[in-house]
Amino acid sequence: MSFIIKKNIWDLKASVITDEKFFNSRRKILKNLVKGSVLYAGLSSIPQSAFGQPSSYYPPKVNDFYKVSRSITEENFATTYTNFYEFGSSKNIWRRAAQLKTKPWSLTIDGLVKKPLTLDIDDLLKKIGGLEERIYRFRCVEAWSMTVPWAGFPLKKIISLVEPSSDAKYIKFETFFDPNVAPGQKQKWYPWPYQEGITIKEAENDLSFMATGIYGKALPNQNGAPLRLVLPWKYGFKSIKSIVKISFVSEKPIGLWESLAPAEYGFWANVNPKISHPRWSQASEQQLGVEGRIPTKIYNGYAPQVSSLYSDLEKNLKDTLFK
Ligand code: MTE
Repeated sequence: MSFIIKKNIWDLKASVITDEKFFNSRRKILKNLVKGSVLYAGLSSIPQSAFGQPSSYYPPKVNDFYKVSRSITEENFATTYTNFYEFGSSKNIWRRAAQLKTKPWSLTIDGLVKKPLTLDIDDLLKKIGGLEERIYRFRCVEAWSMTVPWAGFPLKKIISLVEPSSDAKYIKFETFFDPNVAPGQKQKWYPWPYQEGITIKEAENDLSFMATGIYGKALPNQNGAPLRLVLPWKYGFKSIKSIVKISFVSEKPIGLWESLAPAEYGFWANVNPKISHPRWSQASEQQLGVEGRIPTKIYNGYAPQVSSLYSDLEKNLKDTLFK
């Protein structure tokens, strides 16, 4: 989950990206897991995907309720400074991500639900009935951030489609698994496929969003085509990309990063400037493409919408990250 800059191929100034120490520290964790492995995520110049939903979906209607006071991150930054470990760790991630075939794309929604579904993403979008655009802040656990217009639909629309039973307490999301297309998945020390989980209550919150597009267009592969989660009050690793399975379950799911380093990437992972990551402060953040750091806000500025979800946990701040 770390980044390193190659000045010769990229024009972001070193001062406007995540500090290289994050790159080195993540590397240390992974080295402990596998002797001699060198892993890092890189930057690159990445085109929009050739695939995606029909262009009639884009640009979608803007939902004016979801605005922000920050300026929007330049598209080229948000679509090139990306994390997608399935495609490895080099600066050429975008070339590899372009190999992912996102059409057709089958999605299964199962588990403790009355109406399980397996359907193509296009059929899902027909059932959902229309996309909207929302501008959200996005904060990575490594203290870089961006502000982007996502296209998609509220996650609770999926909940209504499948009608979970009362035993369903959590939703587990899974990314595709295809090591032939995604060479990072040949690295067996990761517990592939990438998975993440949230509570049903969190999923029902208005902010929880399933994105199919960004900047008025279908998602490019590197940003998680054709369907990804966006949870703007949580650290970015919860926002799982290229989802193939959504399961309603009774037990708390364990995410990929949580299973590798539970003391660093907790289940809740709510953005909180007062709780440092074990190896760096979360008090401020570096917006992609903008000089100078800005203070990080509790729940990434979304406290009015989400803090009631955590009223019990807030007695002990650390619990809002790690419980
Ligand atoms: N989803 C999958 N499947 N694989 C990943 O490596 N990285 C996560 C998250 N979702 C990741 C993922 C991390 S660490 C972050 S910060 C965000 O995606 C980055 O989203 P972006 O690249 O669109 O900015």
